[in-house]
This record gives sequence, structure tokens and C-alpha cells, in this order.
Amino acid sequence: MQYFSEKHSAEVVIKQYENCKNLRLKKIMESAITHLHDFVKDVEPTQEEWSYVIDYLTKTGQKCDDKRQEFILLSDVLGISALVDTINNRKSINATESTVLGPFHVNNAPKRKMGENINHDGKGEPAYIFGQILDTNNNPIEHAEIDVWQANEDGFYDIQQPDVQPEMNLRGVFKTDKDGKYYFRSVKPKFYSIPTDGPVGTMISATGRHPNRPAHLHYIVSAKGYKPVVTHVFVKGSEYLDSDAVFGVKESLISEYILITDKNKIKEYGFEDQYYELEFNFVLEKTD
Ligand code: BEZ
Ligand code: FE
Repeated sequence: MQYFSEKHSAEVVIKQYENCKNLRLKKIMESAITHLHDFVKDVEPTQEEWSYVIDYLTKTGQKCDDKRQEFILLSDVLGISALVDTINNRKSINATESTVLGPFHVNNAPKRKMGENINHDGKGEPAYIFGQILDTNNNPIEHAEIDVWQANEDGFYDIQQPDVQPEMNLRGVFKTDKDGKYYFRSVKPKFYSIPTDGPVGTMISATGRHPNRPAHLHYIVSAKGYKPVVTHVFVKGSEYLDSDAVFGVKESLISEYILITDKNKIKEYGFEDQYYELEFNFVLEKTD
């Protein structure tokens, strides 16, 4: 019989899980207990520090409601969301990499016609975004769907500013034709701050980090018979590409918004003045 001691703390606690019939749960609990006990032994928190941790987690829960999920944000800024996403979306060589979904996707974004402008607040630098959805052999995937969303020029999503931005500003769902091609109008994204008015913000500032995400456009690309990809395209040259607050950046997802100044092209594409072009192709893997 082993009684609880500093030396044997983890093994004594783990023993109480020996009858757990769900083997996956048993493994998760054993690993969590092992690592948490190691953490406490490494840090040796004072009673006051441990009370602070409990209070911090309590406040994190209290900040959550149907519009705000502070625990996911905490997982995001600790790099856990990015790690879970990466482990669960290991890709064959040339398939498009995934990244974090984030809290600002909505399920009922309007279906839009190819070529439509998703920018409805009139702010920002105009952009034309286009590309093709391909399989891993470089063949177009017909009738693919792309769901896109981005923050506005001031760094906020429409659902963060329901009284300021038009509803469904800067989001939409497009369906490709047989050729898998997509194109729409929007604005060049800007970097923005994740919400800092809760416990995550307190931790970010107490530790001398910054809360910013590099400029990006979110995509969910899906097609029948293929694994959907939840991803972003990041703006090449944006601030914070090397220090994303939620660790979403992958090199393959960085792409250049090219400034178009050619008068004929501006006219041909229906813009009033110079605009940016972003071309990005997506490669989907077949479902197993
Ligand atoms: C986003 O990109 O929308 C996002 C992702 C994680 C946390 C906050 C925002
Ligand atoms: Fe975002």
C-alpha cells in the first residue's frame, strides 16, 4: 500500500483510475495527472499562487457566454488549439495546410454569386481574390464550396460590432463551377488584436506579450468526396507574421497581395482605382 507523498503523488492518484473501463479516458487521465504533478513539482506554487490560478480559471469560465468563449481563446494563446489542429490535419505532401478556425466563423453566411463584393462597409483597400480548387493530382474539383470571412479595416469582425458594421459584412459562401475556379472582391486584410478585455488579455499583458494576429483571410474549402480544409491565407509582409498571438501561421499559407496600377486592367476588372490581387489555389485530399 502506497500512501500519498511528494515523491509518489502521481502514482498514488493514478492508481485510483485503475478500474476505468474506457481505455482512452484512462490514458488521458493518467497522462494529465503525470504532467500536472510534474508541473507542480517544477514550479512549487505557494498557496497564494495556486489560489490565483483557481481564481483565474473561475474568471475565464465566467467570461464565457453564447458569444464569447474565453477558454478557447486561452487554448489559442497557449498554442494548444494550433497543436491539436495540426495533429488532426496531417496532410499529404501537396494538400493545403489547415490552421485554427477561430471564434468568428458563422454557419449561416450568405451564399454569394461568384465575383460579388463581400465588403459592405466601404472601408479598406479594394482587392480581387481568385484561385482554383484542385485535387492532389492537380485536377480541378468541380462544385467545390468556399466559405470566407475576414475582419474589416478597423480590425473587427461584423459579429464583434453588430451596431457598427452591416450584417454579414466581409463574409460569404461561393460555389465553384466545373472548373473549380473562384473569384470575388473584398479588401486587403489588416492585422488585428484578439479580444483583450478578459483573463486572456490580463495574462497577455502581464507576460509582456502582444495580442495581435497578422493580416489574414479565413477560408473553409469543401467538396463532395474530399476532406474539407479550415485555413487562412496570410498577407505576405504583414506585421506579426513571426509572432501570431494564436500561432496560426504556416509558411505555405503566406501569399502576396499584388498592387495593380495598370489603368486598362483596373477598368477591365471594374475597379475605380488601383487595387490588390490575391491568387491562391487550394489542394484537397480525397476522403478515405
Ligand atoms: C481569428 O482569426 O479570427 C481568431 C483566431 C483565434 C483567436 C481569435 C481570433
Ligand atoms: Fe481572424
